[in-house]
Amino acid sequence: MPTQKDQDRYEVDPHDGLRRAIVGGWAPEKHLRLRKYVDITRAVRGKFGRNATYIDLYCGPGRARLREAGDIVDGSAIVAATEAASKNPYREIIIGDLDPLNVEACQERLNRLGIANVRAFTGTALEVAGKVLPTLNPTGFNLAFLDPFNIEALPFGVIETLAQAKHMDLLIHVSIMDLQRNVRSMMMSGKLDAFAPGWEKTVNRGATNSTLVMQVFEHWRNLLASMGYLISDNIERVRGNRNQPLYWLVLAAKHDLADKLWGEVSQVEPQRRLF
Ligand SMILES: C[S@@+](CC[C@H](N)C(=O)[O-])C[C@H]1O[C@@H](n2cnc3c(N)ncnc32)[C@H](O)[C@@H]1O
Repeated sequence: MPTQKDQDRYEVDPHDGLRRAIVGGWAPEKHLRLRKYVDITRAVRGKFGRNATYIDLYCGPGRARLREAGDIVDGSAIVAATEAASKNPYREIIIGDLDPLNVEACQERLNRLGIANVRAFTGTALEVAGKVLPTLNPTGFNLAFLDPFNIEALPFGVIETLAQAKHMDLLIHVSIMDLQRNVRSMMMSGKLDAFAPGWEKTVNRGATNSTLVMQVFEHWRNLLASMGYLISDNIERVRGNRNQPLYWLVLAAKHDLADKLWGEVSQVEPQRRLF
């Protein structure tokens, strides 16, 4: 039986009979950046002899309706796969999601588009990352797109696992809304430990909520840096239609092209760059 939450989040797409998500108006913007990243890394994929993998561990059903505008948009895995299709396609598209109906719909949509070499997994991002990592070509060029609804679904172990690959760029959405709302309760309950292990060494518990959020985020970025990741300085803060901050978009890479790539990706909406 679908829950009330499911009914608010999903519906059947009358065009293809598959599940689609119902999302806020900011989804196209994050997809635009993903598309741009995939576009500008086409030459890198070429250099790697097309030995490149796209990994989407929170793939959703692959299509969505914008709740207010009503537009129908592709989901992240479809955006990345179709963008790459004509310019050094990914050798493999790996999709995963906790919800089996999302995995099924996303896989089916990729199949119907003729996107070959899709591997699909149902499970938490942590489980799927653990399964996938040993199967990757050790010298391949990989992008992992990490797009959870909330902080709780993004344990740092996901990043630690993926970071074991030699070339693993990360495009990560961190929900500011969720951190702002829940940072204190996550500290108390221990849930923050999974997202940002060791936070208590650098975060001042007595700080105001917004300072706490910034300190936790800073700590999380330093964890990424300690794994050899360079994090683009101009992190995007994407705002919703009431101008409320929604999430940060972080591009992390172990090569010094990260800043250059991000400079190009973020030219989509330069006025929104805040850092
Ligand atoms: C924001 S949506 C993803 C949207 C998708 N990336 C897109 O742009 O089309 C987040 C997804 O994460 C899934 N999810 C929630 N908790 C998860 C977890 N711990 N591991 C993997 N997926 C999870 C949800 O089922 C949902 O499909």
